[in-house]
Amino acid sequence: MKILVTGGAGYIASHTNLELLNAGYEVVAIDNLSNSCKESIRRVEKITGKEISFYENDIRDKEALINIFNKENIDGVIHFAGLKAVGESCRIPLEYYNNNISGTINLLEVMDRFDVKNLVFSSSATVYGDPKTVPITEDFPLSVTNPYGRTKLMIEDILRDLYSADPEWNIAILRYFNPIGAHESGEIGEDPNGIPNNLLPYIAKVASGILDKINIFGGDYDTHDGTGVRDFIHVVDLSLGHIKAIEKLGDKPGLVTYNLGTGQGHSVMDIINNYEKACNKKLPYVITDRRPGDIAVSFADPSKAYNELGWKAKRGIEEMCRDSYNWQSKNPNGYR
Ligand code: NAD
Ligand code: UD1
Repeated sequence: MKILVTGGAGYIASHTNLELLNAGYEVVAIDNLSNSCKESIRRVEKITGKEISFYENDIRDKEALINIFNKENIDGVIHFAGLKAVGESCRIPLEYYNNNISGTINLLEVMDRFDVKNLVFSSSATVYGDPKTVPITEDFPLSVTNPYGRTKLMIEDILRDLYSADPEWNIAILRYFNPIGAHESGEIGEDPNGIPNNLLPYIAKVASGILDKINIFGGDYDTHDGTGVRDFIHVVDLSLGHIKAIEKLGDKPGLVTYNLGTGQGHSVMDIINNYEKACNKKLPYVITDRRPGDIAVSFADPSKAYNELGWKAKRGIEEMCRDSYNWQSKNPNGYR
């Protein structure tokens, strides 16, 4: 089976490409390299000894997509391509709506034209807003507070409308919690542009001496140590969830939605403590004000994915921190 992976050079896509190739799928990747490097594709090819058919194109370029669908015999699509920084989305919302929404509509139109109706979509736990209780199940009310989150919820709505209009589609909406870590080889990992916004890449840069201290955004949340709690999930476990979702589409399930998380909440402080063990040094930090828009606690109830996909995250925060540091130490400047 041949899978088109959009945003195929990115962080989660590179790990998913590797698992797809290992599971015997053929991979076609499209990426405009706006937040990634082609080197990630080369490294996955090196680890697996298999080739990826790579197209450096934008998914908003319809002719380019048509060309790919004409050349390759695509069976299904995993749609990762999109912009994903919350703060940036508040500054340049039109760019986010154009890229994420227009890009997705373009992709869906071309899929429809070629009668390729199997899709896995990268959604986010951000669509749950500030949940009243935890753990979060898939039927919780949906709400968003920023343009990035709104693009995810709008795309989910578009997919639900598309499926109502044409039940031939098989669509898996995957809501990721907080993906972190890297492949155990240390050859592929997260490589953000500039100063990272997210916790783990920031800690990794402090551990390797590129940044001087961690800023903990708030120490007075109602959590076991006052710092924010999240459901951190190893990117390899997350990627394996995509393989299960692709398999599921083979059963023609219609539109299905799954949380991909571990079901465990860990605090910012828990992560720092584990990272210190992984890198065997003390990591300087200060507690600063809360970051606007952050919530205290978020973690998944992942039992639906377990019951229906047979998928469960296996790796703990020790491995997440170890693999993050391994990637960071082997590649202090990322892929560049
Ligand atoms: P990433 O930035 O590493 O990957 C996204 C890729 O898409 C990049 O390689 C980028 O160059 C590419 N891209 C962006 N716009 C494009 C376009 N118009 N045409 C072609 N390529 C384009 O991000 P990631 O962390 O791997 O995230 C992948 C997906 O998962 C995104 O949709 C993101 O919103 C979603 N997601 C990520 C997280 C997370 O914490 N990393 C959490 C929830 C959801
Ligand atoms: C963020 C996004 C979310 C998106 C997800 C994946 C925000 C508000 N939310 O989730 O929409 O789906 O990334 O891209 O940006 N923290 C620090 N210091 C730091 C960085 C983070 O203390 O330097 C804390 C945060 O306050 C939070 C936790 O670490 O409690 C995790 O933060 P982060 O990694 O940015 O992820 P989220 O905010 O959960």
